[in-house]
Amino acid sequence: MIGRLNHVAIAVPDLAAAAQTYRAMLGAEVSEPLDQPEHGVRVVFVNLPNTKIELLQPLGDDSPIANFLKRHPAGGIHHVCYEVADIIAARDHLKARGARILGDGEPKIGAHGKPVLFLHPKDFNGTLIELEQV
Ligand code: CO
Repeated sequence: MIGRLNHVAIAVPDLAAAAQTYRAMLGAEVSEPLDQPEHGVRVVFVNLPNTKIELLQPLGDDSPIANFLKRHPAGGIHHVCYEVADIIAARDHLKARGARILGDGEPKIGAHGKPVLFLHPKDFNGTLIELEQV
């Protein structure tokens, strides 16, 4: 069911510093910051030849990233995103097998303008999984 790795998201306490680290130390191409208030994040995209890295900084007071950074003050891997062809079919397949979908279970429009869902980390080895329909 899952296809390509779309991105790995890393929560960071200082987005400008993290972007500079990827540019200057790792020689990566990094996008300009983008605010996503509906997800409570400010994000930059690091474009790699085979996938993307998203660097996430909290945006707003009730950002889900803020709690993560309390537990991981230096930052850390927040989620991985796998591509699916049909997000509703993927959701129904997972729900039928007992997986928990976060939120109200309906896809939201994600960082790339495509429908996304998040799966409960306790069902997937402690890893928050995002599914994105491509
Ligand atoms: Co993501």
